[in-house]
Amino acid sequence: MTEPRTRVSRRIGAIAESATLKVDAKAKALKAAGRPIISYGAGEPDFPTPAHIVEAAVDAARDPKNHRYTPAAGLPELRQAIADKTARDSGWAVDASQVIVTNGGKQAVYQAFQTLIDDGDEVIVPAPYWTTYPEAIALAGGVMVDVFAGAETGYRVTVDQLEAARTPKTKALLFVSPSNPTGSVYDEAQTRAIGEWALEHGIWVISDEIYQNLTYDGQRALSIIEAVPALADQVVLVNGVAKTFAMTGWRVGWMVGPKDVIAAASNLQSHLSSNVSNVSQRAAIAALTGDQSVVDDMKVAFARRRTLMLDELARIPGFVSPAPGGAFYVYADVTGLLGREWGGQLISTSLELADYILEHADVAVVPGEAFGPSGYLRFSYALGDAELLEGIQRLQKLFA
Ligand SMILES: Cc1ncc(COP(=O)(O)O)c(C=O)c1O
Repeated sequence: MTEPRTRVSRRIGAIAESATLKVDAKAKALKAAGRPIISYGAGEPDFPTPAHIVEAAVDAARDPKNHRYTPAAGLPELRQAIADKTARDSGWAVDASQVIVTNGGKQAVYQAFQTLIDDGDEVIVPAPYWTTYPEAIALAGGVMVDVFAGAETGYRVTVDQLEAARTPKTKALLFVSPSNPTGSVYDEAQTRAIGEWALEHGIWVISDEIYQNLTYDGQRALSIIEAVPALADQVVLVNGVAKTFAMTGWRVGWMVGPKDVIAAASNLQSHLSSNVSNVSQRAAIAALTGDQSVVDDMKVAFARRRTLMLDELARIPGFVSPAPGGAFYVYADVTGLLGREWGGQLISTSLELADYILEHADVAVVPGEAFGPSGYLRFSYALGDAELLEGIQRLQKLFA
């Protein structure tokens, strides 16, 4: 007997709404209704895009050559600027033909899995993980195998854990450093060990480097391809301008990889979305080739807020927050607060705890359930210092 048809296809019907966007939307709705909400939910810098980048876009919008279709894989000048950036920051000398410009890093993540994964292929993903990876893997017919690392290891998996998860079906490893949601950065030895393990077993590495330029305390997020150059034929880098240049709304990301993989991904993109907005691409050229000190200015603010956040969270009993090396998130282990009554209410999960915090302190945070296991809260520190402090002070009172 054939199964009845569903209105929405099973494949698309199975996709969950982005949990982080959901928290953000709820916080914004409550704020609009007049509640004094402080939100740590946002995954984006709160700064405006630097002026010289905006100016380049304004000029581009006035130039009729940008009013037409351009090559699906990206403007040649931008592909070259990305190749130069890859050499500069990821230590990998690539040709512009190894670059494809995508509609944000998110599309690059989606296309990387679509291009590499066949039905039943397994992809190892360190948990906690960014909420988009499981959906992008499932949409490619892949099977996500998550490997969890908790606060005690700074949320970093080991080669032994990866090896325990490896099967003959393992096709790829998702590697992300600095990580969303944990902000953790793998050190050089760890990155090299993981890269060598992947090389030895012929496992592709999809390395999400979107937070690569946002690191603190003198740490550097070494690219896995710089650590293990021999991975060049089995690596795809994913990156974009969103986080580094406060350009989340401009939608410019990219994939860098072996020529055949990039050519295949370009074929996909030529039917899916064609070229990214030329105005945004011109803005991205200005971002990548212009004055990089604008990034340093934003980093100074992030570094200050990170310290403030860690110091203040440390004063709340039950919050265990490893110092994150990068991105703009603190990932607090709150397992010590669960299974207890708060305000006369039994709270067993971080989802319930996040709801309780929103209800009773007007503070929005993203529960661990959005990124894997329960027991954690993600705080973004991409908000103003005064607000940031006030929100944590509200939590200090709530859990006093
Ligand atoms: C880990 C990670 N990768 C990729 C992205 C994609 O960023 P965008 O699509 O805005 O370029 C994000 C955004 O939140 C992210 O956190």
